[in-house]
Amino acid sequence: MKLTARIPASNRALEIGARRLRAAVKKIPGAVPLFRACRYVLDPGYRSERRLMRARPEKLFQPHALTSFDRHPAIFSFIERQLRGCAAPRILSYGCSTGEGAFSLCTYLPQAEIVGIDINPRSIRVCQKKQARSGDARMRFVQAATPHGEAEASYDAVFCLSVLRHGELGVRQPETCGHLIRFADFEEIVASLCRCLKPGGYLAILGSNFRFADTAAAAGFEPVFSLPGNKARADTPLYGPDEGRLVGAVYNDVVFRKRGGA
Ligand SMILES: C[S@@+](CC[C@H](N)C(=O)[O-])C[C@H]1O[C@@H](n2cnc3c(N)ncnc32)[C@H](O)[C@@H]1O
Repeated sequence: MKLTARIPASNRALEIGARRLRAAVKKIPGAVPLFRACRYVLDPGYRSERRLMRARPEKLFQPHALTSFDRHPAIFSFIERQLRGCAAPRILSYGCSTGEGAFSLCTYLPQAEIVGIDINPRSIRVCQKKQARSGDARMRFVQAATPHGEAEASYDAVFCLSVLRHGELGVRQPETCGHLIRFADFEEIVASLCRCLKPGGYLAILGSNFRFADTAAAAGFEPVFSLPGNKARADTPLYGPDEGRLVGAVYNDVVFRKRGGA
């Protein structure tokens, strides 16, 4: 059975407020370059994003590290309910940024072992410092651009939230996306995430510019949870396997269950 949930109104209101503030600041002449220069000097997280954008490592998707604690409660609660019978679930937070999502998951699944992976070395250092402070030995953070290093069928749930996208696509809405992100890279990373999941495990993909349904791996999964309104987010245009924009496309499925298992 497929479930449907609502995006919490508080999160939506914050996002809309931030967008309006950004739009207002952009109208002041010279404000944007001045703001960026100050931020580059004062904000190490922003500096690491800009460096990543300049270096453009292979398989880089969303370079922005924006995250927050308990950002997706509907998804976290859904997975928590599915894994209730599992004594010590193994969870992968792919594109974990500075770890807020991984630490949130600890509160939903206190018995879980959680691995966080991110391409940004500074973000992983921040995660490792947080983990050292918390003394929580059930967490591990790894810097990598793919999940290829993770063992086959070793996770009960994989979260890939706001990672396989690029913010610039939402701003400019170009007709094609290959100059920023490539479908072949999406398919490769997704296939690798699917490989890491145990049969019966859960894959959560949110905020991607490509659809999981367009990958070969999707045949081995069934959608079990969706978020209405996900498609309507103007900052997440959808692109097809040919990297052309899918005007008016709707894709609300977020959590997929790997076939097989108990
Ligand atoms: C917007 S943040 C999302 C953070 C978190 N998942 C959340 O939902 O709050 C996107 C993250 O994806 C990471 N990222 C981008 N491309 C990646 C890749 N190929 N492999 C791993 N992480 C990647 C970025 O470094 C960034 O930290």
